[in-house]
Amino acid sequence: MALITAGVGSSHVPLLGVAHDQGKDRDDYFGPIFAGYDWTRAWERAEKPDVVILVYNDHASAFDMKIIPTFAIGCGERYAPADEGWGPRKVPDVIGHPDLGWHIAQSLILDEFDMTIINEMDVDHGLTVPLSMMFGHVDSWPCKVVPLAVNVVTYPPPSGNRCWALGEAIARAVASFPEDINVQIWGTGGMSHQLQGERAGLINAEWDNMFLDGLIGESEHLRRIPHIDYLRETGSEGIEMVMWLIMRGALGPATRALHRHYHVPCSNTAIGHIVLEPASPLSSGA
Ligand code: DHB
Ligand code: FE
Repeated sequence: MALITAGVGSSHVPLLGVAHDQGKDRDDYFGPIFAGYDWTRAWERAEKPDVVILVYNDHASAFDMKIIPTFAIGCGERYAPADEGWGPRKVPDVIGHPDLGWHIAQSLILDEFDMTIINEMDVDHGLTVPLSMMFGHVDSWPCKVVPLAVNVVTYPPPSGNRCWALGEAIARAVASFPEDINVQIWGTGGMSHQLQGERAGLINAEWDNMFLDGLIGESEHLRRIPHIDYLRETGSEGIEMVMWLIMRGALGPATRALHRHYHVPCSNTAIGHIVLEPASPLSSGA
């Protein structure tokens, strides 16, 4: 039976894709950022997940003002890196898992989450940067990916509570997938940042660390944080962190932290990263 064995949280800062692709990842500026992922890269090589459910947001690459799905799931065979203005990143295509994607889509929709189904799209830094941070330079990504896109770009994004409940429903969906596969769920984006307006450059390290602390153990209080608190405390783009709550919701009532990393500065934001496992194994075949 399929099982969610771990959750990973990570920022998706586009500049890290540039540093990685141009071989600057160990210089004075980027070295301390990438060093925080060394533990995770070794751990991922040992864990060998078959599939990652990669919760991320598109930044007007696959979607734009013409169509704005709140929650969308990729059921396609493969996804190419998007051209975000300077040509597509030269990283491998992302290989999907259509059987698991369709299974999760069916399970979620029948569980009353009205998902948008995507068969074709390109994926931007929101998805490819976390893959590079976790797996480094590779000829092909070492696992399949089911992309799960969340609208956090155009108001109104989904509430943290709704994201958490979606995570719980994803765990139920995975648990009823008959193949024996090792599945991870990643929540990406954040941490505190504001890219425009008077408060551009805002970073709130205290709040970010409160959020990271809160993901460990029982995290019920995190799901109640209202949008206005993210906006006030973490800037206009900090709302990306609701995506981490989908990951956290999928891990069950309590978690253990295996690894954690936080560093400022990283482009306009703080880099935050955490690796979690369920405190008690999730049941399979539910
Ligand atoms: C930055 C961060 C983001 O999450 C993003 O999507 C774009 C830019 C930044 O810090 O520069
Ligand atoms: Fe972003």
